[in-house]
Amino acid sequence: MHFQFSEEHLMIQQAARDFAQTELKPGVIERDEHQKFPAEQVKKLGELGFMGMMVDPKYNGSGMDAISYVLVMEELSKIDASTSVVVSVNNSLVCFGIEHFGSEEQKEKYLKPLASGEKIGAFCLSEPEAGSDATSQHTTAIDMGDHYLLNGTKNWITNGSSASTYLVIAQTDVSKGHKGINALIVERGMPGFTIGLKENKLGIRGSDTHSLMFTDVKVPKENRIGEDGFGFKFAMKTLEGGRIGIAAQALGIASGAFELATQYAKERKTFGKPISDHQIIAFKLADMATEIEAARLMVLKAAWLKDNGLPYAQASSMAKLFASEVAMKTTVEAVQIHGGYGFVKEYHVERLMRDAKITQIYEGTSEIQKVVISREILK
Ligand code: CAA
Repeated sequence: MHFQFSEEHLMIQQAARDFAQTELKPGVIERDEHQKFPAEQVKKLGELGFMGMMVDPKYNGSGMDAISYVLVMEELSKIDASTSVVVSVNNSLVCFGIEHFGSEEQKEKYLKPLASGEKIGAFCLSEPEAGSDATSQHTTAIDMGDHYLLNGTKNWITNGSSASTYLVIAQTDVSKGHKGINALIVERGMPGFTIGLKENKLGIRGSDTHSLMFTDVKVPKENRIGEDGFGFKFAMKTLEGGRIGIAAQALGIASGAFELATQYAKERKTFGKPISDHQIIAFKLADMATEIEAARLMVLKAAWLKDNGLPYAQASSMAKLFASEVAMKTTVEAVQIHGGYGFVKEYHVERLMRDAKITQIYEGTSEIQKVVISREILK
């Protein structure tokens, strides 16, 4: 075991850090304020090879490992979690799902433009009545011979209006429970597919979160991923890796807030000295640094397990659970250290605090991570 990044990892990390400073930071407050999708920035991330990072170069991907992906997610999330969630969903849910479980034709047709960043993908599992309880799908995909007839509503879909390719989980045969669920690739523009209103959110406001409506959408049979009834397992397997991405996002939010708080604490003076010289502030920084380091090790371990073909369901849920709690705690403390300045937008920490909350909710709440972890340790 050695705790050192390769030269290549460090170069990728630096490229992401530079991109975040030059391309994400300048407009981040405005995008948050006006809920503006980072379209230009996402296009440039595609040109850098960050939209299909782990995809095989033969499908237009960058062929990088999950460690690189974590490093990029952390750097982008330090500055702009609204952009990093677009990167995360495209990479670890949509590209991963199609590359690992899709047919050769699906990879040619759908994965290639997603991995190059020419198109954006969305992962559609949640419903008005199926968030944590993911087997309770009300969206139906009725087998009509050569196609499925898709009907239903999906909620809180990241990249809802910016995507072109949607992975939709739906129930084909309710009598079979989770074994009657399928995953279908749905294209934007298919007749009967409409995009609902955009959610007005607490955090990650630059990302576009929508409900989606399907009314008698004809989805060709060849757009089903895997065998009939594989949809639920597909969603679970894909979320295992997705949770590494969100854990890395939480880590980035925490480290971004920590860096700002440390810098501020060294500059701001009270009672004749920098506030970092007051032990109560120095100890807060020590606690934040320690917890962030623990989260980083957990996220990297989950990525390392994935890179080495070892089981990572438990590790990714543990990393997400812990890193998202650290993100919440650290950002609240960062606002506190900034005092009144922390409460205003120009100092960035209030946004990081709002953004942190979603990492405890999406891709499985903290409670769901505990379900996954406890089942893994008890089985
Ligand atoms: N890999 C493979 N198979 C798996 C699996 C995994 N990781 N997890 C479960 N399965 C299989 C089980 O083995 C079982 O199959 P068998 O019957 O053949 O043994 C089947 O799936 C059903 O599993 P469970 O009985 O465990 O299912 P459950 O109903 O108890 O639910 C759950 C399990 C973990 C709670 C699951 O429902 C879950 O993860 N819920 C949270 C969903 C979620 O994360 N949603 C996020 C939406 S996506 C998102 O947020 C993206 C975004 O926009 C950012």
